[in-house]
Amino acid sequence: MAAIDVALRGLTDRALLELTRAGDRSAIEAWRTGYLGRSGALSLHMRSIGQLPSEERPAAGQAANAAKDTLEAAFAARQRELEEQALDQRLESEHIDVTLPGRPIHTGGLHPITHTLRRILEIFRDMGFQVAEGPEVELDWYNFQALNIPPEHPARDMWDTFYVKPPSILLRTHTSPMQARIMERTRPPVRVVVPGRCYRYEGQDASHEWMFYQVEGLAVDKGLTMADLKGVLVAFARRIFWPEIQTRFRCDYFPFVEPGVEMSVQCPLCRGEGCRVCKTTGWIELLGAGMVHPRVLRNVGYDPDVVNGFAFGMGAERIAMVKHGVDDIRSFYGNDLRFLQQFT
Ligand code: DAH
Repeated sequence: MAAIDVALRGLTDRALLELTRAGDRSAIEAWRTGYLGRSGALSLHMRSIGQLPSEERPAAGQAANAAKDTLEAAFAARQRELEEQALDQRLESEHIDVTLPGRPIHTGGLHPITHTLRRILEIFRDMGFQVAEGPEVELDWYNFQALNIPPEHPARDMWDTFYVKPPSILLRTHTSPMQARIMERTRPPVRVVVPGRCYRYEGQDASHEWMFYQVEGLAVDKGLTMADLKGVLVAFARRIFWPEIQTRFRCDYFPFVEPGVEMSVQCPLCRGEGCRVCKTTGWIELLGAGMVHPRVLRNVGYDPDVVNGFAFGMGAERIAMVKHGVDDIRSFYGNDLRFLQQFT
């Protein structure tokens, strides 16, 4: 075999071997310039053919061209192979298992207290009460004085108060101030319920929060009696709990009603048997109520000799706790989704 052929064979073999070792795009590009580029090994070889005796040149030229074809074909094949490998790797690393179940989408829900408030209002609306709302930042006048609680009166101890601007501007400690606000702007008859936030400056524990919701109720008309008050509240208890639930009214004191009462219901959790929630008494105190004090009516320009009324106030959290067997009021505002999601 002629020396030129030996050289070409050697070059081709080396090139093909190196090509199999070139493992990525830049390596095969370097390979291409090294062998097939203008000053690559094969081009130099072709140029050296010119120095051969003229009769040997055609065969050597043919052989070199064949080698060039071989190398170009090998390059193209290797290039494709590497592209496929890269694609396989990407598919492997980014692969999506379409058989996996989808991630659940968590939809939000209403807060349990919102549910409770809506239910309470719905029941009173059915009985002909309107719904009104009022300010959380309130005047001492409406929160206390209009309700027959004068400054310095010991009854104020019932409501530990956050003052915004002492002594006259505060965060309302109950929804009762809306009684006076509503009566001031309406003529009797009045039938209204008022949901809203209340604030009290007190230590938190399982049954006390410094912010909570109340629903206030007020009815003023000619000739209302305790029987009307009881009728409305018993009807309410029967609907929010169950139709045969037992109720109990006992004397209580609130400066803005006379007489004043508290209504208890048979414990909805143990149905009166006695449990942890009702402290084994079988009864749960649900709300305060009474016949509107004549002085409150007079404070808003109503004549207590012509009209009278009844009022009541209940804590929404308390009703939600009793209804759902929640034993700590703080759970409602702890923002723990594991708790809140139970109610959606
Ligand atoms: N406002 C009272 C409280 O927060 C509850 C209350 C008692 C409201 C008797 C009333 C009522 O309207 O008549 O403790």
